[in-house]
Amino acid sequence: MYKKKLIVANWKMNPQTLSEARRILMILEHRAPLMNKSEAVICPPALYLPAFSHYVHSVKLGAQNMHWEEAGAFTGESSPTMLKPFNVNFAILGHSERRLGLGETDQMVNVKVRSALRHKIIPIVCLGAVAKAKKTDMKKIVAKQFRATMKGIEKNELHKIVFVYEPTWAISTSLHSKPADGEHARELIMYIHKFAGPNCRVLYGGTVNKHNAREYAQYSEIDGALVGAASLDPNNFWEIIKEFERESIHRG
Ligand code: 13P
Repeated sequence: MYKKKLIVANWKMNPQTLSEARRILMILEHRAPLMNKSEAVICPPALYLPAFSHYVHSVKLGAQNMHWEEAGAFTGESSPTMLKPFNVNFAILGHSERRLGLGETDQMVNVKVRSALRHKIIPIVCLGAVAKAKKTDMKKIVAKQFRATMKGIEKNELHKIVFVYEPTWAISTSLHSKPADGEHARELIMYIHKFAGPNCRVLYGGTVNKHNAREYAQYSEIDGALVGAASLDPNNFWEIIKEFERESIHRG
């Protein structure tokens, strides 16, 4: 099955103003029609989504989080039915900063994924976040998180989910961080495909930028990237997209 590459920008709690956010978005929106082999998804802070929903045409929108219920006593949360009218087609679920900093559990990620699927929002599920994770333990960590977060989800639904191999130690803002090398990312991504099947997309996340994007894009098994810091610089983010485009065109 032909799969377009997916390059996802996770802006986290940045940038500080809507006008700066809009500036970055408009640069990408202007360039996005040049993409053939890949798709770009921007996940801005939730407060910017209503404004962004008017500006997006070629770029897709994602939320950085989503509650599993439609409404109720859940202070500070956004529900799938609130996000949908703002052209939100994706939601990052189980990001390490929510798991490790805010106590989000596999069980919570599981109900969020099920809710996203019910509401036709594509879940982008992050695997690999454990405090003090060691490189040699990553398969065990990923297998355990996959089983727990996919509980009750039918096999024939798995292709609707995007997975990300994003080890905590590779995230640019974590202490002593070091990006995974391409070969390791490829190995873990192939490992996730063993559980998830061949048809879903599995991305790599962790310090991807214009300088190292080829390290990941060179492997056909790596279906794209989840990009943090570098995605706030539209030129840097665009270079990453171009790298995945170039490699895909090269392979034909
Ligand atoms: P960096 O690209 O800054 O390492 O962030 C990765 C990340 O957390 C994306 O979700």
